Amino acid sequence: MDKLKQLLENNRRWAEKTKAQDPDFFPTLSRQQRPDYLWIGCADSRVPANQIVDMQPGNIFVHRNVANLVVHTDFSLLSVLQYAVEVLQVSYIIVCGHYGCGGVEAAYDHRQLGLIDNWLRNIIDTYHLHQEDIYQLTDRRARLDRLSELNVMEQVANVTQTSIVQSAWRRGQKLSVHGWIYSVEDGILHDLDVSVSGLDMVDPPYRLEQ
Ligand code: CO
Repeated sequence: MDKLKQLLENNRRWAEKTKAQDPDFFPTLSRQQRPDYLWIGCADSRVPANQIVDMQPGNIFVHRNVANLVVHTDFSLLSVLQYAVEVLQVSYIIVCGHYGCGGVEAAYDHRQLGLIDNWLRNIIDTYHLHQEDIYQLTDRRARLDRLSELNVMEQVANVTQTSIVQSAWRRGQKLSVHGWIYSVEDGILHDLDVSVSGLDMVDPPYRLEQ
């Protein structure tokens, strides 16, 4: 119980400090949110979206799940994506993975953990698709790092293959999708250079007809 009380006390202190620094901070935020970014990241406690890019509340719309997956039947993710793109009109979608991801490691090791195995199956698909690339590396750590990067790249592709994002591009909305990976060891983000900013950059079989 004390551990929970600590959180509430921290919150009071933070709110006071924030108000003292900027008396308009909460009144402004309470009227509206106008984030430019949608962040799709891992639920890992070491990768808190706002903190690692040094952003205040109000700037980033966030969805996090185990291993930052974009699954086409996940209504939670799809609802976040639709709201972010169509209502909030974000300009940037960032899929952010991280090295040392427990979800990626569990998938790589084919470990059985219960219900979550079904979720992590999506990473095994990526592993299978890029086997040759991964097997070229002999070191386990290098293989896991590569799979973490490939997982982000696949999820970026998945975002661009949704009707939500493709419809936005057809309407002429300015929207780009980016893949980043975070190093828990030094706190640095790396751009994986897989940015997609228009329908012409999507693989033809995945372009939906109007
Ligand atoms: Co993770």
